[in-house]
Amino acid sequence: MAQRDGFTSTFGVLVATLGSAVGLGNIWKFPYLTGTNGGAGFLLVYLLATLLVGLPVMIAEIMLGRTARANAVSSFEILSPRQPFWKSIGYMGLVAAVLILAFYTEVAGWVFAYVVKSLTGALGHTDPVAAKATFGALVSSPAQALLWQWLVLALTGGIIMLGVSKGIEAAAKKLMPLLFLLLIALCVRSLTLPGAAEGLRFLFAPDFTKINTGVLLTALGLAFFKLSIGMGTMLTYGSYFRPEQNIPTTAARVMLADLSVSLLAGMAIFPAVFAFGFEPAAGPSLVFMTIPAVFDSMPGGSIFMTLFFVLTAVASLGAILSILEVPVAMMTERWSWSRRKATLATLAVIALLGAPASLSQSLTQHWTLFGLNAFDLFDYLSSNVLLPLGGILICLFVGWHYGLPRLRAGLSNDGALDNGKLVGALFVLLRYISPLLIVIVMFKAIGAF
Ligand code: TRP
Repeated sequence: MAQRDGFTSTFGVLVATLGSAVGLGNIWKFPYLTGTNGGAGFLLVYLLATLLVGLPVMIAEIMLGRTARANAVSSFEILSPRQPFWKSIGYMGLVAAVLILAFYTEVAGWVFAYVVKSLTGALGHTDPVAAKATFGALVSSPAQALLWQWLVLALTGGIIMLGVSKGIEAAAKKLMPLLFLLLIALCVRSLTLPGAAEGLRFLFAPDFTKINTGVLLTALGLAFFKLSIGMGTMLTYGSYFRPEQNIPTTAARVMLADLSVSLLAGMAIFPAVFAFGFEPAAGPSLVFMTIPAVFDSMPGGSIFMTLFFVLTAVASLGAILSILEVPVAMMTERWSWSRRKATLATLAVIALLGAPASLSQSLTQHWTLFGLNAFDLFDYLSSNVLLPLGGILICLFVGWHYGLPRLRAGLSNDGALDNGKLVGALFVLLRYISPLLIVIVMFKAIGAF
């Protein structure tokens, strides 16, 4: 009996964590960044960043949360009462959460719009010019761009206020296998299109001349974004972990499962990109143009296309709720606000910040900073600056302040697990290698050397 209980809960935690990791990052961001950054070389750097930086930081974050059992700010206060500096990691996470949601909810809005478009048959074409026009019409219409984002914000608020967020998360988890199956079907169709081989070459045969500093930083940023790390989401989730959960194993499984979803999305998209003559470097529109084309060349395609966008929308809501959990846990625990008040306040800030992002293809297209419009700026600032910075600080906290004995205790469940060697290696990564890699990539990106 005890055995079975243990299994069920271990699996439940695994799936919950996966629910935060899997989202638009896999379906939308991974393919589009792989396309704009030259393909396989980017994928290789992304894999290295995930193994050498992403996984160690994820394990550390979950461990800190489970040990302190509190939100991202209070956890550092509890674990390091004499050095108040460290709680700035939590405050930085708050800023990152809001910036991410300001553009993430917009992209989720596009997915909802595509659910409707797929139902009305507006997407039935494999022609790149028509596909581009359809997407362009959506994002360049101020009213549509704003309204779809607000729909997502209202849905998210509604879900929290009705107290059904557990329900949505449960749904997201149950629907995930379905999304996985649909992606496999898409891959099969895409890989059997004439000319598919070129897409596979683009995705898996690295061209090292295409790897430059920008590519390195983008891949590192994606590794953080994908695993929901560097801003307290995993720490907050860790605070809900059970004491007997094996953290390193859980994190490794989540990483592998998340990676498979991204790779499936890549294999569904790139063969089709080359088969139909799309532009691999199209940017954020890539998925929205290519996926409908693959479905269109498949029997029963329009039904499956609707299902695909519905599932992606649900997955994105799951990820949004996990990002919201960071500010909401902080406000409820530190300021004793109700969940409802904390959610509404956060959503209001996101709506304000999100408006210039969603209008960045229309009314606010000339509002630029460092040559980036609001949408790209929020994305860049969060993934390429705040998350890696948070990552460095988490590494330094664990590697130089928290120390090996406490890390060992935290990850071995106070000696119950025999993972001493693994934790030793992880400590070397966290103390030296991961922070150094992040620093080198970030300094190189700002042209320091
Ligand atoms: N990982 C999610 C995705 O790929 C997005 C996400 C959820 C996230 N929580 C996060 C990104 C925390 C950064 C930080 O869609």
